[in-house]
Amino acid sequence: MFFKLISMKKIFISILVLTSIQSFSQKFENLAPTPPMGWNSWNTFQTNISEDLVKGIADSMVSSGMKDAGYTYLVLDDGWMAMQRDSITGNLVPDPIKFPHGMKALVDYVHSKGLKFGLYNCAGTKTCAGYPGTRGYEYQDARFYASLGIDYLKFDWCYTDSINAQEAYGTMGKALVTAKQPIIFSLCEWGTHKPWLWAAKDGQLWRTTNDIGACFQGEFDTSSGWKPNCVMTCVDQNEPLRKYAGPNHWNDPDMLEVGNGMSVAEDRTHFSLWCMMASPLIAGNDIRKMTAATRQILTNKQAISINQDALGIQGWRYASKDSVDTWFKPLSNGDWAVCFVNRSRQPQKISFDWNNENVQDNISLQQLNAGTIQYKIVDVWAGKNNETTNKTFHADIPSHDVVMLKLMKQ
Ligand code: GLA
Repeated sequence: MFFKLISMKKIFISILVLTSIQSFSQKFENLAPTPPMGWNSWNTFQTNISEDLVKGIADSMVSSGMKDAGYTYLVLDDGWMAMQRDSITGNLVPDPIKFPHGMKALVDYVHSKGLKFGLYNCAGTKTCAGYPGTRGYEYQDARFYASLGIDYLKFDWCYTDSINAQEAYGTMGKALVTAKQPIIFSLCEWGTHKPWLWAAKDGQLWRTTNDIGACFQGEFDTSSGWKPNCVMTCVDQNEPLRKYAGPNHWNDPDMLEVGNGMSVAEDRTHFSLWCMMASPLIAGNDIRKMTAATRQILTNKQAISINQDALGIQGWRYASKDSVDTWFKPLSNGDWAVCFVNRSRQPQKISFDWNNENVQDNISLQQLNAGTIQYKIVDVWAGKNNETTNKTFHADIPSHDVVMLKLMKQ
């Protein structure tokens, strides 16, 4: 009898442990081993979206080489819904004017191009643009997304009053898993409740900043009085959070503004830093008519290989001197990425003696051993590869531009 009681107790404890593990892991496994790459409608089109736009973007993702470069997710942001839910079923309704053939046909079209499809909603009662929010409909909306076969959900934080962020995102995460359609869950509460501390169990990426704008440094006034973050503000806020990021749980300093109005140098810097920070690469420009310069930035193979490196380590700012920031990011096989960023309005000369620097990553414990190992240097943007770390590196960096290098172990 005594032994029976003990084994009953053991079974009871095992059930408890199992249930708590199950309720802890509430996201799909391994949907984003490297930072997600794709396109999102918001930065260029806001709510002016339509079936024709999506089809045009999907076609261009293929014909421009974006898809081959790794951009897989086509995400429709705010503005895809009608103003009301269906009065009988309570389901979300795609705007019948913008999407005359419904959403499922569009999802199928995007899938037929070998791409994946994403949608947007919000944890509050309304989306930020005033469309029906998900609050109170989490499980129903998750079933709706599963019935459409979508692959990605961006989940915003407007009209949330005083609800608890961890609970709200936890509920939606669980609803998605319960609906059984593997969906990347992108938390978009702008870093307000420090999602890096709790969201790795819920989703694959979380915003760490307010909304980005197409400006390099400082903040600018738009006509509406709304002030977005400029690129370098997002960088400065995202950089200290590196220890929280890794495969399947990424810091997200917001979508790309490459091709949306900054100079080519600034676009290159923006993209380079998103690669150094292992940030999701979600293009936000009109890729149907991008310039060759924009396309070359967005599809640069070496830069993308730094972003998509399998170790998934977010790089860090190693030094900051005379308005030049020096970044390092450890890569697989003992390789490294390095980026010199000129933040000033003047050109800057740099020189870097690999042998005299002690580059050590306190988080991944990787160390650059230029003293004992000779690395081949690949210049990511100039395309040159005729130097090694044996001699001091020199460069002239134009204002707001970068030199990004890949150091390859020989
Ligand atoms: C918020 C988000 C943006 C975008 C808009 C849509 O501001 O942060 O990325 O999704 O809402 O209304």
